[in-house]
Amino acid sequence: MNWKTICKNKLLSAKEAVEKIKPKSYVFMGAFGSQPKGIEKELVNQSERLKPLTIVQGTVFGTTALLDPRMKNYFRYISLFSTKEVRIAIKEGRAEYLPCLFSEQPEYIEKYFSPNGGPDVACIQVSPPDNSGFCSLGVSVDVARKAADCSKMVIAEINNNMPRVHGDSFIHVNNIDYLIENHSPLPEIKVIEADTISSKIGEYIGELIDDESTLQLGIGTIPDAVLKTLKHKKNLGIHSEMISDGVVDLIETGVINCTKKTYMPGKIVVTFLIGTKKLYDFVNDNPMIMISPVSYTNNPNIIAQNSKMVSINSALQVDLVGQVASEAIQYMQISGVGGQVDFVRGANLAKDGKSIIAFPSTAKKGEISRIVCGHNSGTFITTSRNEVDYVATEYGIAKLKNRTVRERAKSLIAIAHPKFREDLENEAKDLNIF
Ligand code: COA
Repeated sequence: MNWKTICKNKLLSAKEAVEKIKPKSYVFMGAFGSQPKGIEKELVNQSERLKPLTIVQGTVFGTTALLDPRMKNYFRYISLFSTKEVRIAIKEGRAEYLPCLFSEQPEYIEKYFSPNGGPDVACIQVSPPDNSGFCSLGVSVDVARKAADCSKMVIAEINNNMPRVHGDSFIHVNNIDYLIENHSPLPEIKVIEADTISSKIGEYIGELIDDESTLQLGIGTIPDAVLKTLKHKKNLGIHSEMISDGVVDLIETGVINCTKKTYMPGKIVVTFLIGTKKLYDFVNDNPMIMISPVSYTNNPNIIAQNSKMVSINSALQVDLVGQVASEAIQYMQISGVGGQVDFVRGANLAKDGKSIIAFPSTAKKGEISRIVCGHNSGTFITTSRNEVDYVATEYGIAKLKNRTVRERAKSLIAIAHPKFREDLENEAKDLNIF
């Protein structure tokens, strides 16, 4: 029998489903590639009745109507990861950022988000139910799994475009209170052709990656540039919080096959997926993919079970003792901690593991150095100097772990942009670092 017949009583319009939400509720909204857009629009339409509504949401690719300036007095918006739109909203007092390791966000949702712990409502997006009545959370399991499990009410948008991804992603229709149909296309992020700086960084990092390594890579030009250098490597694996299109090419050519992984061999372990239709088609019903809650994928003790684990993440600024700032510059919340610290820790604990922080040597069109003598206040430390291992720029690699402060300063200045090196050296001497 068709699922629509079986779920007849639960199938509502977005308007009807949102009418089930009580004013002053605490609401979890799906994020990443799973933003429930139909519900989002209706929350705005019904904001007068619902106010004040507390909303928590992870990374939003693109925009969200929930952050429309006109919603300021109706919604309290808590962001788990800042993007450009969220950054402005935080600055204007329309959103708040929650500092929290990605691996610990499910615990926050379950225990600390509302006065009673979990959310009153979880709004999620799922694939259509299979013959046994199971929907897949698809491209975003991360925090959504916990939210769906611990919320008092679950409203799900069924999307025919949502892939059915294997792993801890399944939710039975019996555990969903209301269903809405919304078959909008998933958001897409394309591989950006690497510029010369990213290509150079990619080449340096490629040299650090041995055959049979297991990789964690984020989104962006540097991870894509790294992937391009791996064509001749053998038997690579993936244990990452996410993968994008670039990984699919290396799987299809057999470079990434996960056969030598020491943990979950044969499986690509991830917690969310973002790319283009190419990726979404690839992961659909693909037993090689194992998508799991972020409390599992990003648990450093789980990550560490992968020998030759290599984590590759980016940063905004690093000081000469190796303190890595990846989230904020002088109180401007540019992004979030994400899984950086989880994977740095996991890779450091792994047998023969390496953690790499990579970024172009300058920002603001070459005007400022990303390697600085010391951070200003409001430039928060993401990865501590005690945990940082390798730092890469287009000028090479600095190995920091097991190196003294003076050794670190020397090797970081050597990979700073040449036009800033003398100033950095002088500042370091003045401060007795050098
Ligand atoms: N001083 C001032 N501004 C700086 C800066 C610095 N040192 N470095 C970067 N910026 C600004 C850029 O100018 C840019 O501003 P814009 O958006 O107005 O153009 C913005 O910060 C983002 O910088 P950019 O270099 O374009 O960022 P990116 O897209 O390469 O991402 C991080 C870099 C650090 C923000 C990103 O990797 C991140 O969020 N990391 C933390 C989370 C993480 O590691 N997750 C794990 C993998 S998913």
